[in-house]
Amino acid sequence: MLEKDLSDGLILRWATPDDLQKVPDLVVEVFSTPDMQVDSLGERFRKIMVGEGGLMTSDDCLVVVDTKKEGDPVIACTSYWQEMQTYEGIPFNAGRPAWVGVRNAPEYRGKRIMNHIMDALHARSKDDGTMVQVIHGINWYYRQFGYEYGVDYGKRSKVWLSSVPRLEKGSVERLRYRRATVDDIPTMLEFDKAQGRGGAVHIPLSEAWIKGQIEDMHRQDTNKTHVVGKYVLMFEDESDNVVGFCVVPGFGDEKDRTLIGIYQIGFAPHIDIPTVLFSAMRNVIAFAKSAVDEERFQQLTSLGWHVSRWHPVVEAIPSHLRNFAKIPYEDPSYYYRVSDLSTFIQHILPALNLRLKSSLTHKNFTGSVKVSMYTPRHPGFELQIESGVIVNTLPYVKRDQSEDPTVAYFPPFVFLQVLFGRKSIAELEEIFPDVEMEESTEKLLSVIFPKKVSIIHHYM
Ligand SMILES: CC(C)(COP(=O)(O)OP(=O)(O)OC[C@H]1O[C@@H](n2cnc3c(N)ncnc32)[C@H](O)[C@@H]1OP(=O)(O)O)[C@@H](O)C(=O)NCCC(=O)NCCS
Repeated sequence: MLEKDLSDGLILRWATPDDLQKVPDLVVEVFSTPDMQVDSLGERFRKIMVGEGGLMTSDDCLVVVDTKKEGDPVIACTSYWQEMQTYEGIPFNAGRPAWVGVRNAPEYRGKRIMNHIMDALHARSKDDGTMVQVIHGINWYYRQFGYEYGVDYGKRSKVWLSSVPRLEKGSVERLRYRRATVDDIPTMLEFDKAQGRGGAVHIPLSEAWIKGQIEDMHRQDTNKTHVVGKYVLMFEDESDNVVGFCVVPGFGDEKDRTLIGIYQIGFAPHIDIPTVLFSAMRNVIAFAKSAVDEERFQQLTSLGWHVSRWHPVVEAIPSHLRNFAKIPYEDPSYYYRVSDLSTFIQHILPALNLRLKSSLTHKNFTGSVKVSMYTPRHPGFELQIESGVIVNTLPYVKRDQSEDPTVAYFPPFVFLQVLFGRKSIAELEEIFPDVEMEESTEKLLSVIFPKKVSIIHHYM
């Protein structure tokens, strides 16, 4: 069991049941601002920590405790989640640091205490056999641990409640909401799956996570004072068929007083989204009205779309109603970390081969292409291709300065933007002079690693 002396009385270790109250307390302290104590975060974190949502157990949290102080307070923490993502349909497990924080005191901040936590977390993730780590978090910070932006959320949107068209007189509302039950989960997973098509990466709705949210929501049925984390709603059509779902965060968040948030939303594949869009909006507003008292409802002014900019439901909002806006808890992008590129590329090879085979230009290509990160500290990879099939992938390090037209150069980590579809190689060449390769190499690599929009949801 990890127990590392960081000197000066600080000990790094995995959390124990005794820390179950200390860590949420630290989370509240760290994520509050001087002008706002965000107590609801403690309860939100506690639920996740005890395993609701299936992201972690209370053991999966790294803490640094200060043994110089009475009661050994936790002064830094990061929880370790595991999630499954897919690359063009191929599943891969990802380890995720979450709720990263150091107590805001001069004796702890700015001392790189987090480096020890991140090292331990990456070692654990490697032991668990995960090839990738992900996080959506504060800007720049995670780059120092080998993360790079891979999938964007894009700008978020708001729709003013007052701008949502009313139901026309004499018309019947197309949708009706009801609270989900665990029996709805398979249907929701199907609707969610359909939205993953076309992107490089999909983060499937997790069965354990949605189950946790539904069970939490229903605690309010027997305990009216229970503070719900997320409401999970189903949409039914006029014939009582389930045709969609959506996840709305609870209304107790201190930072988020004016928004009715939409964290997840999806419809059955046969549904025409523009046709049901306003009905869905009206239903969510009606639900909010039923969930809070009149005073709280009056504070709500807009629907806040936390899902990615390219989500089909958000894209369906007419431009005169859609306001691009900053909203609380938004992060611009998902960071990815892949310490062994050639092993991960081997894992997703069927997807890369499909791209190559469907290319009109390179479907019969034979040869080799190498990707160098300039330094042996960050090995690249080589793809050996025969008649349009990548038959082998190997680690590659270019050790000399000789010219080789089959080598593409990327500064360390920047290639991850191409791997996960965030940017095209041509876009990166415009920005970085040291992303460089022969035109023929660029054309081949752009077929294998095209720019692709991936639709992601918010679920913190
Ligand atoms: C973010 C946080 C964990 C950093 O810990 P810290 O002890 O303050 O900073 P560190 O000693 O680890 O700093 C290492 C480097 O990161 C930089 N850094 C620190 N905080 C940063 C931030 N919020 N954003 C970007 N860079 C940051 C430091 O300037 C330092 O850079 P340098 O190498 O050029 O000197 C801590 O400030 C914190 O808990 N913040 C509030 C909670 C939070 O925002 N967590 C992240 C949620 S995703």
